[in-house]
Amino acid sequence: MKPVRHLLEVDDLTAAELAMVLDLSAEPSPSPVLEGKGMALLFEKPSARTRHSMEMAVVQLGGHPVSIAGGEVGIDERESAEDITRTLACYHAAIGARVFDHAVVERMAAVSPVPVVNMLSDQAHPLQAMADILTVQQVFGEISGCRIVYVGDPNNVSRSLAIAAGLAGAEFVIASPAGYRFESVDLNRIANSGQKAQVVEDPVRAVDGAHVVYTDVWVSMGQEAEASEKVTAFSGRYTVDQQLMSRAANDAIFLHCLPARPGLEVTEEVLYGPQSRIWQQAENRMHAARGLLTFLLGAP
Ligand code: CP
Ligand code: NVA
Repeated sequence: MKPVRHLLEVDDLTAAELAMVLDLSAEPSPSPVLEGKGMALLFEKPSARTRHSMEMAVVQLGGHPVSIAGGEVGIDERESAEDITRTLACYHAAIGARVFDHAVVERMAAVSPVPVVNMLSDQAHPLQAMADILTVQQVFGEISGCRIVYVGDPNNVSRSLAIAAGLAGAEFVIASPAGYRFESVDLNRIANSGQKAQVVEDPVRAVDGAHVVYTDVWVSMGQEAEASEKVTAFSGRYTVDQQLMSRAANDAIFLHCLPARPGLEVTEEVLYGPQSRIWQQAENRMHAARGLLTFLLGAP
């Protein structure tokens, strides 16, 4: 029997497997690997892109998605995360979960007889990173050698992006204020994916020659208590504006996982400007999800 594979972070895949997922994402006639089957999609936090891209990917693979808000099942309140997982696995061929605490998806995966997919935790957003790499590949033809520069908070999105970039052979640079840096455990994990992340304070120097300039909100879901402190630390210097974009390569693109806070981490001019690929990136969430599910559930 094929062993159950989970996807809690991009490096649950090897570099070759990530390349395979990206190829499957572009497959025009996907295999109906979920025909007659369901996928449970559990959300402890709001979502637009992840819910819709996952639901439609499941439909495109012949399956039936069932989305559930965290409060409906009461994770660790009404029932333990483990028993919720065991229950959902009675009906579904796979389980997706968006959680506050990454440890919850780890606990789910530890007991699940079906694949568990992390749909965003405080630590990681692997589905987003796969769609991002797919977008870079579509725009530039290949990812290897691309300089991806992330300006902003070292968070779930940038951590997964750094790991995905390492696996795909891209250069990854992050510019953030002192005091907002990846922990050494994260830097080691990123380095293990194939390339060390370059960590700098100066966004202007970082963006020099970039093929991709990426940012995300400064205050992630669940960090609301830190909002004013973070906005003060990042304001001004770490806003991606046209002047900063002009330091990047002539054919550079701008990416953002969305939702955005125009006027904070990015100006409207850049977010909706000619270099922005945010809608292609958002659409790719669905293609990447389909590629990943085909990989996890398809024939060995
Ligand atoms: N980028 C992303 O995950 O968007 P949602 O939070 O809307 O799903
Ligand atoms: N870093 C953001 C990403 C949202 C898709 C958050 O976790 O809220």
